[in-house]
Amino acid sequence: MASLQDTIHPYVGESQLNSNSSATQTSLEMLLKAPLEVETSAPMPNHGVVDHVIRVEPWSNSDNGISLTWEDLWVTVPDGKGSRRPIIQGLTGFARPGEVLAIMGPSGCGKSTLLDALAGRLGANTRQAGDILINGQKQCLSYGTSAYVTQDETLIATLTVREAVYYSAQLQLPNSMSKSEKKERAEMTIREMGLQDAMNTRIGGWGAKGLSGGQKRRVSICIEILTRPKLLFLDEPTSGLDSAASYYVMSRIAKLEQREGRTIVTSIHQPSSEVFRLFTNLCLLSSGRVVYFGPASATIEFFASNGFPCPTLQNPSDHFLRTINKDFDEDIEQGSSGKKVTEEVIDILVQSFKSSDAYEEVKRQVSQICKQGGNESVDQKSRSHASFFTQCLVLTKRSSVNMYRDLGYYWLRLAIYVFLCLGLGTIYYDIGSGNNSIEARGAMLMFIASFLTFMAIGGFPSFVEDMKVFERERLNGHYGTTAFAIANTLSAVPYLLLVSLIPGALAYYLTGLQRGFEHFLYFDLVIFTCMMLVESLMMIVASIVPNFLMGIITGAGIQGLMILGGGFFRLPNDLPKPFWKYPLYYIAFHKYAYQGMYKNEFEGLVFPSEQTGGRGGVVTGEYILKNQFQVEMGYSKWVDLGILMGMVVLYRVLFLVIIKTLENVKPAISKFMSVKSKQKIQVMENPTATPTHMN
Ligand SMILES: Nc1ncnc2c1ncn2[C@@H]1O[C@H](COP(=O)(O)OP(=O)(O)OP(=O)(O)O)[C@@H](O)[C@H]1O
Ligand SMILES: [Mg+2]
Repeated sequence: MASLQDTIHPYVGESQLNSNSSATQTSLEMLLKAPLEVETSAPMPNHGVVDHVIRVEPWSNSDNGISLTWEDLWVTVPDGKGSRRPIIQGLTGFARPGEVLAIMGPSGCGKSTLLDALAGRLGANTRQAGDILINGQKQCLSYGTSAYVTQDETLIATLTVREAVYYSAQLQLPNSMSKSEKKERAEMTIREMGLQDAMNTRIGGWGAKGLSGGQKRRVSICIEILTRPKLLFLDEPTSGLDSAASYYVMSRIAKLEQREGRTIVTSIHQPSSEVFRLFTNLCLLSSGRVVYFGPASATIEFFASNGFPCPTLQNPSDHFLRTINKDFDEDIEQGSSGKKVTEEVIDILVQSFKSSDAYEEVKRQVSQICKQGGNESVDQKSRSHASFFTQCLVLTKRSSVNMYRDLGYYWLRLAIYVFLCLGLGTIYYDIGSGNNSIEARGAMLMFIASFLTFMAIGGFPSFVEDMKVFERERLNGHYGTTAFAIANTLSAVPYLLLVSLIPGALAYYLTGLQRGFEHFLYFDLVIFTCMMLVESLMMIVASIVPNFLMGIITGAGIQGLMILGGGFFRLPNDLPKPFWKYPLYYIAFHKYAYQGMYKNEFEGLVFPSEQTGGRGGVVTGEYILKNQFQVEMGYSKWVDLGILMGMVVLYRVLFLVIIKTLENVKPAISKFMSVKSKQKIQVMENPTATPTHMN
């Protein structure tokens, strides 16, 4: 077999090579020209060779690209019976700069798992063994050198395509680029993905229809190719696209690889013959085993030489997949050799590949890359990203826009709060200053501090959606956890102020609580801080329990306990000592909210005494606080508010710490648990930047 070095590059139409690199020409002209080029490009005679082929010199490591190699790679998952089931079985392969490696195989064969393993994104229950090396060595990839477009879409539904890509450009591209350059890059990338007509369409998601599935796919790709990463993983980039769109998208991605020496690894389901021709190498999998790895153009010969020739006029990729798909065994006919059980066919192909020259060639290439790249490390300085300040600013802006447009985030809550506070205002309307108003004031304030703020968990589903986007962007190195936490806090403040101010004022003034603006201000600040606290608590919950139903239940459970232990339903001195008094009473923010609000309301008031039967005796607010509500009177109400605000900071810091710890601990645990074979596993220095190959 010919050496991979002197073979191939994707078979490309002249249009692609001649096309002007300027933004508008690349996108618009290419779009108009491309169909013609498709027409004129020769059909693949027996799906093998194309007539007019332009060969591009392969990219070399010396150009500081990224060569990825993997040797004897295994991935296993628990099988539910106490042992482990392999999903990837001893795979060896490589991906080099300037080449597109396509991973193909029937659904469930392990394509996404292989990509996840290569990108260092395997799930917690998986174990990995084998070598994954970058340029032949254990080394770290700096920010933006690799990107991964996963199979699932995680985009901010309320943004338009233009906004989503532009915000992303602002987040990822370095400060040395001007705003207009970033805008231009964003628009050029959108055009390259053929989304110019959908630029101002909102992405849409649950509850609101927006882009089609294929368009969303292309937005995801846009966002990841903005920084022109040196190593790009794509999981089913063409799903949801028609064959023409698939071709345009793949050819634009492939253009990245030819021009700029990118390394592209993509899984793909059903490439048309044009798309197939764009691939340099093909990795064909079946049940985690490699059926073929080598030049895509040589796959036909491999199948034919093993007795499975591709019928004339059949798309070769269809033929490969039909031959190795055992999910629908009885439907599969094996050409002229009659029917064969697919399992046998796969075994024949797997064994034949293992004893083939192609396999030897793969191993030779892997060791050559390792030798060549042994002294090279990926250029760490070639790419920088937006400054921390810019990231915080852009994220705050983006998050504010999202909160404004997402009805479920704050607007719905505002409406419900207004109704609830109107309810409170009418039920306690003009509360008066009689003795019976003492209990009523206490109950009303308790309701506000616990149940009204409790409903701040209503924004959790929207926050979980945000977290998914954050998770994707964090793993791709767009920005770090601190920037996200700061931006989320800053963007939520104005909305929470609004949500606490309007309903709070309704409840306060309809009820007729203690007069004086300072009292109202304090009352409102406590509501605001408690809502911030509930949101912070839910952020912590979301970082540990990323499923929104489980998250709501967990968050509600924690708050329920805190309300019980806050000192209202059972007075502080009556609380059972273990757990309820120590520590829950002191941990529950409700304690400080109740006591602060009570002090705010009762201090300075006097009520007719019940003992004197209304015959002139009075009881002071201070007396009620101390004896009836058992409030700690040693410090002022402002200290209570200060503690609440301190708790907000603490909770947010805790969120940061949890995310950062999980980032570092998860890979360490996985590594500890993984098979202890000879492993030279890739370790990333900056876990926020790119994959950690530590599983
Ligand atoms: N974390 C996991 N735990 C248990 N099983 C897993 C896990 N990850 C993958 N699998 C199983 O491994 C197999 C391969 O999954 P994978 O997602 O890699 O397939 P795929 O080739 O990408 O399929 P598709 O083309 O449908 O996306 C499937 O049977 C899947 O159920
Ligand atoms: Mg998949």
